[in-house]
Amino acid sequence: NEIKLFCPATIANLSCGFDVLGLCLETIGDEMIIRKSSEKGIRITKIIGADLPMETEKNVAGVAALAFYQEASSREAFDYGFEIEIYKNIKTGSGIGSSSASAAGAVFGINELLGCPFTRKELVTFAMKGEVVASGSEHADNVAPCLLGGVTLVRGYNPLDVIRIDSPNELFAVVLHPHIEVKTADARAVLNPMIPLKNAITQWGNVGGLIAGLYTQDYELIGRSLEDVIVEPLRKKLIPGFDETKFDAMQNGALGAGISGAGPSIFALCKGHKTAEKVAFAMSESYQIIGIPFDMHLSKI
Ligand code: HSE
Repeated sequence: NEIKLFCPATIANLSCGFDVLGLCLETIGDEMIIRKSSEKGIRITKIIGADLPMETEKNVAGVAALAFYQEASSREAFDYGFEIEIYKNIKTGSGIGSSSASAAGAVFGINELLGCPFTRKELVTFAMKGEVVASGSEHADNVAPCLLGGVTLVRGYNPLDVIRIDSPNELFAVVLHPHIEVKTADARAVLNPMIPLKNAITQWGNVGGLIAGLYTQDYELIGRSLEDVIVEPLRKKLIPGFDETKFDAMQNGALGAGISGAGPSIFALCKGHKTAEKVAFAMSESYQIIGIPFDMHLSKI
């Protein structure tokens, strides 16, 4: 009647794949405890590690859980509800899927307690409802890798079509999280809805290249494809020290580097743990000069 969950952090976009690509970080994440309660409905009973709303309708986990609960109970009526405890390790507004981890965890946990009436891919749809509360838009590029693991591609949104790709064996991610908050809604507001055709051509070439590189474990191709000519040029202005940190990551052997999700976190992908450690060291050296406190993560993908 109770389940304890690890809810992983994620990197959305992966440079070229705005709103469609994401990957799951194996070693960074929140914890949640979800239990059945005799009272109907969804209640958030505890939040540790972040100052977030306890009201179900204002909390990303609550909204996602409610979307799930309403659909599940319309199929088969039940006379109990669920309580959710959230232990946040992923900082809100950090760009590594803090809200998504909560939304995905809530629907995953309740689904398990109900005997899995929905597939993991179906759960993505409910978790996306929580994302709206955090960012004002329904995107699946964090919740999909959080629920499915590995790398995910949202091939289409209407209807939702998510493809999971196994992570290449030696792929590691380094994440530098500057301690400033960038709200996803603000980072979306700086974007230009009109894209010159030549930029679109570069971008979709890179998305195809990245997918091909992941499937064939071609690290050089993965590196060449980690380029973003549409979103990064506009968003990097919100992140002090972005260019310098990316440059140092690349100089020290990263396959590629960019903005993690909506930022401000900066990520680098690396082949092998040793290179990832070297890149993490170079990025932190580089960021110390900027004078903004930060923390670093290194994770297998
Ligand atoms: N794809 C989203 C964005 C991820 O970049 O705005 C952030 O939640």
